[in-house]
Amino acid sequence: MAQLYDLVLRGGTIVNQDGIAAADLGIRGGRISHIGTVAEGAAGESFDASGLHILPGVIDSHVHFREPGGEECEDLESGSRAAVLGGVTAVFDMPNTDPATVNAETLADKVKRARGRMYCDFAFYPGATPHNIEELATLERLEGAAGIKVFMGSSTGDLLVDDPALLRRLLAVVGRRVAFHCEDEARLNARKGLRREDDPASHSEWRDPKAAVMATQLLLQLAREAGKRIHILHVSTAEEMTLIAANRDLATAEVTPHHLMLVAPDAYEQLSTRAQMNPPLRGEAERTALWEGLRQGVVDTIGSDHAPHSLAAKAKPYPASPSGMPGVQSTVPLMLDRVNAGALSLPRFVDLTSAGPARVYGIVGKGRIALGYDADLTVVDMQAERVITNAASASRCGWTPYDGWTVKGWPVATLVRGRVVMREGEITAEADGQPVRFGEALARG
Ligand code: DOR
Ligand code: ZN
Repeated sequence: MAQLYDLVLRGGTIVNQDGIAAADLGIRGGRISHIGTVAEGAAGESFDASGLHILPGVIDSHVHFREPGGEECEDLESGSRAAVLGGVTAVFDMPNTDPATVNAETLADKVKRARGRMYCDFAFYPGATPHNIEELATLERLEGAAGIKVFMGSSTGDLLVDDPALLRRLLAVVGRRVAFHCEDEARLNARKGLRREDDPASHSEWRDPKAAVMATQLLLQLAREAGKRIHILHVSTAEEMTLIAANRDLATAEVTPHHLMLVAPDAYEQLSTRAQMNPPLRGEAERTALWEGLRQGVVDTIGSDHAPHSLAAKAKPYPASPSGMPGVQSTVPLMLDRVNAGALSLPRFVDLTSAGPARVYGIVGKGRIALGYDADLTVVDMQAERVITNAASASRCGWTPYDGWTVKGWPVATLVRGRVVMREGEITAEADGQPVRFGEALARG
């Protein structure tokens, strides 16, 4: 029989837009070519997926790999290695590198660095500054651009746009959806005195829920005036969930695994400054509200906010310690564990990690298992019980806040455009990541 497919995944259980069902999957030329029964001999290679679930590739639309400028913590190669070991097939990297990604040159430089070195597909956010607003409409449509990222409150790096007049102009000029870090800069500055030396728990008191809510409120108002779409990153409070639910025509929402899994102040006792990030961990009531927002459909995407810092930097006494924690490798295991615990369904997980990013960012050819789509697949064993450890962290920072956590549900293979790049914890292909493509930038110029 003539070979119809380069690769067939046989005997797996496919999770896609029409539910969960057993089917073979034929792949040809890096794309999904058939869903259903595939005859023996129709494929060049075959992958035994019996007992496994095959999900559309997980897209992590929020990572901070540190290249250029912070390669001692992470570079595009090590970050993408962690991604595919964690079942992630594409990442969107944030602009707060050194130099920051704020113009066409720095964006093109990242795309160039990524080719041939990243194991997963990729896109990069151009960051907004007070000085590049007029260029943003061009930047957001360049090859490899995920969309514009705006820090409304200061975090790691010096990217910041907090002046409402500038934000108004920014929203007027952009066409694509813009991603925002919402914390009110004036309030953060006014409350800096609440930080206590050597007491990282005071981080959550300083950057309180109101700081996040104020920025989100202002942003919704400005987006409403401008009639522009916004994506609110790492939503961390009940009130923001309510605000976003009331503005669904404009706003989409991301939550992070750490805001879903960890709670203040307890996490600071266990993890000290390793639990320090922006926006900070919240109390139990806020954490519960995030899960409720997730169940109610308010949450569109889960992003890891993978923000590696070295243990040496984290060992500095608060507040000299930097904010952020790694996460790109642990999102899938942690969330599959929650699926097994009944906190969300497997189709909803797929909605948050594949279909959601595709919808929010306008990705083409990814985000579902359908004919003609890229064969990006996250193959998982829902029965596997494994332990997340620092030792198995591929991130150059070498640690995870979840060290020692036992989880049920694990990514056992990662396929990017039909190539098996990870199987059972091993990298199995050369790095061949490509830029993710977006509908609103297909015709550039
Ligand atoms: O905690 C954080 N760390 N929040 C951010 O906004 C940036 C990130 C980083 O790059 O370290
Ligand atoms: Zn971030």
